[in-house]
Amino acid sequence: MSRGAWRGLAHRDTGLTELMDDPACDPGMLAATYRRFDVVNRAVSAWGAVYRTRLRPRLRALDRPARVLDLGCGGGDVVVRLATLAARDGLSVEWVGADPDPRALVSARERERPGVRFVSRGSSELLAAGERFDIVLSNHVLHHLDPDQLRAFADDSRALARSAVLHADIARGRLAYALYAVGITPLASGTFLRTDGLRSIRRSYRADELASALGAPWRVETPAPFRVLALAPGTADAP
Ligand SMILES: C[S@@+](CC[C@H](N)C(=O)[O-])C[C@H]1O[C@@H](n2cnc3c(N)ncnc32)[C@H](O)[C@@H]1O
Repeated sequence: MSRGAWRGLAHRDTGLTELMDDPACDPGMLAATYRRFDVVNRAVSAWGAVYRTRLRPRLRALDRPARVLDLGCGGGDVVVRLATLAARDGLSVEWVGADPDPRALVSARERERPGVRFVSRGSSELLAAGERFDIVLSNHVLHHLDPDQLRAFADDSRALARSAVLHADIARGRLAYALYAVGITPLASGTFLRTDGLRSIRRSYRADELASALGAPWRVETPAPFRVLALAPGTADAP
């Protein structure tokens, strides 16, 4: 591992751009990346734990069918996994995955199933269309955004949610970087997973940095090693 990589982990490296964020990137590699996010997200995202400890209790407390949005759903694997977990628990939920990038939606729609729908829209378009949800969540979106985009994404997500917002992301750190560099190697062929995953870690927040970037009323927790989870109440029903 280069000395530059270690130096870059002391602070967020916001000068780095991920290959998948280039509109002109190789479409075949991008599609393969979105499809294989499934394996990576299962290994690193900790949504199983977040579902059990933060999402399921909120869904049960509603005591009625719920509407949940995965904002920036990419290839759609996270929302499909959550739908499977909730169905096993007998919870009635309408799941929506939304992403403004039509290239992501191609992969997501391959995963469409009863109870899970994908729409090609960003947060501001959903708001303007009058869409509202009980819970809004996201995975691995925050570290992609510049400060203005982060503010808009955070505010939009609260305005879309009646009950709560949960944004999950990677926590920057040396061990996360080293483990990912080794673990991703057998999975990365023909995708952007290695380069973009390592750049993601270098762009990502530590919990205190994310708390200060989002400000009150956001709280940032660490639900699992190498993870951050930003939570805030929704404002959709606020007077
Ligand atoms: C790295 S991808 C994460 C995909 C997926 N959530 C996952 O964990 O695999 C980040 C996604 O956020 C989407 N995104 C960025 N800004 C957004 C916004 N304002 N509203 C909705 N999606 C957004 C991008 O189009 C991109 O597909």
